[in-house]
Amino acid sequence: MVLFNVSGVETTPFDGQKPGTSGLRKKVKVFKQPNYLENFVQSTFNALTPQKVRGATLVVSGDGRYFSKDAIQIIIKMAAGNGVRRVWVGQNGLLSTPAVSAVIRERVGVDGSRATGAFILTASHNPGGPNEDFGIKYNMENGGPAPEGITDEIYENTKAIKEYLTADLPDVDITAIGVTSFGGPDGQFDVEVFDSASDYVKLMKSIFDFESIQKLLSSPKFTFCYDALHGVAGAYAKRIFVEELGAQESSLMNCVPKEDFGGGHPDPNLTYAKELVARMGLGKSNSEVEPPEFGAAADGDADRNMILGKRFFVTPSDSVSIIAANAVEAIPYFSAGLKGVARFYTFLCSPSLFCVSMPTSSGLDIVAKNLNLKFFEVPTGWKFFGNLMDAGLCSICGEESFGTGSDHIREKDGIWAVLAWLSILAFKNKENLGGGELVTVEDIVRNHWATYGRHYYTRYDYENVDAGAAKELMAYLVKLQSSLGEVNEIVSGIRSDVSKVVHADEFEYKDPIDGSISKHQGIRYLFEDGSRLVFRLSGTGSEGATIRLYIEQYEKDPSKTGRDSQDALAPLVAVALGLSKMQEFTGRSAPTVIT
Ligand code: G6P
Ligand code: ZN
Repeated sequence: MVLFNVSGVETTPFDGQKPGTSGLRKKVKVFKQPNYLENFVQSTFNALTPQKVRGATLVVSGDGRYFSKDAIQIIIKMAAGNGVRRVWVGQNGLLSTPAVSAVIRERVGVDGSRATGAFILTASHNPGGPNEDFGIKYNMENGGPAPEGITDEIYENTKAIKEYLTADLPDVDITAIGVTSFGGPDGQFDVEVFDSASDYVKLMKSIFDFESIQKLLSSPKFTFCYDALHGVAGAYAKRIFVEELGAQESSLMNCVPKEDFGGGHPDPNLTYAKELVARMGLGKSNSEVEPPEFGAAADGDADRNMILGKRFFVTPSDSVSIIAANAVEAIPYFSAGLKGVARFYTFLCSPSLFCVSMPTSSGLDIVAKNLNLKFFEVPTGWKFFGNLMDAGLCSICGEESFGTGSDHIREKDGIWAVLAWLSILAFKNKENLGGGELVTVEDIVRNHWATYGRHYYTRYDYENVDAGAAKELMAYLVKLQSSLGEVNEIVSGIRSDVSKVVHADEFEYKDPIDGSISKHQGIRYLFEDGSRLVFRLSGTGSEGATIRLYIEQYEKDPSKTGRDSQDALAPLVAVALGLSKMQEFTGRSAPTVIT
């Protein structure tokens, strides 16, 4: 066994190591500065209780982006230096964010150990490569992101750090499965490299009826494709969709994980998932090749998802509502073990609670009311769901930002969402695979609108705007809220066909579990007819500021739910841009991304 020594290395603080919505995200060049990563990791160790460090088992892995391999070796050495007993690493350093959550919650090590936390190395949907982004976040023993109390403490520690601890270990081979043991001043230290997919696949098999999905995927009537955008989802897609569920290998697009995501922007939306969007026939009326029936994509760390039907886009807000409305019938996990019994009984055991983030459309609220279920609205950020889930108050949740999930883990889950949709399609087509018309993704969405009404919804993103200008715009909108009379004068001056603003505020949230209050979570303008405008600053960018504008209009009349979304929303869009003086403040005449 190789022996090692531990030493303290002197260091000085760096500015700006405050974790954002989802950890610390900066350009690779920033992370590569000597001691930059080390300071953040030591500050994290110092923010944890000693039993979560000394003698503990920690997971270290991520989406495989550029700099991950170096970062993993640095963290392994610092873990040994801080008295950690074991580090678990997914083979080649790859673990999707949902898989990390599953590993913390479910995995038992070769020696019977369990993990109490994880360093996840990802900047999620931000591009990767030497000139792009790297990121790191810490997840707790429940499998979810560290709460604000911890991230605030990490930040305070980064401002005062003087020394970090590290061990003089050789680099560990993370390409081969197995355990490497070392001997240090506190005794043995192990690095266990394990298969990145097995634990996650096992969990998915316990949630979904793989047999029924397999029947769907192997039917010649149903065609499928999946785009991992060269992110870590590729490491799971082949295992699950091809090996377990029998999809064609040719269904997989960009499923080889790459350090720079093939030069692309690994964000599953209509702008960045261009290849998938084309393959699904969106934006083209007469494509020569018949598009598949179902298409989906994931982001870099595989927690986000986009769902598409043939020539049809499912908004993330609609997606979570539809999954929730169909979960009891179509997904065994939610029928509380009553799989196979009559529909009447399964409804008695429906998942009790639905949750969305505030800017997400109000669609799920209406499903919850219809099913007589409780509904929570939280600020943007998955960690808010986690608290509710731990208290048994949230079963299915989702966000407009292409995140969907449930209480099976404490992160959103891109592949789970795809399996949920395939389960619904399999359920609706049980009788149709032999003969009869296939119920399509589009049919499911249109039927949903016919039952619950439709929330026309769009989001405008203004990326990398001058941070000062973005703040001024937000301050202006808050000030404007004090006079609804003035607001309505402006609104009617822009479009007389838009209804009146009846309420305006800044969203604030009191966590029902820990009582913590989150302020300034988005500026809302609520209209008489149920329409809504929300303005928010993104918490996940790495440069400048990103302004997000969320626009929503509710239509109950089934004869009017089939319009083109951008057409239907055009009046509200004009009002939003005029009211906020978007161009005046930002100098931008158009958003960077529209979803
Ligand atoms: C991450 C979080 C999500 C959040 C999203 C958007 O993906 O996990 O919960 O909705 O970022 O954040 P942003 O602050 O950029 O709108
Ligand atoms: Zn992500």
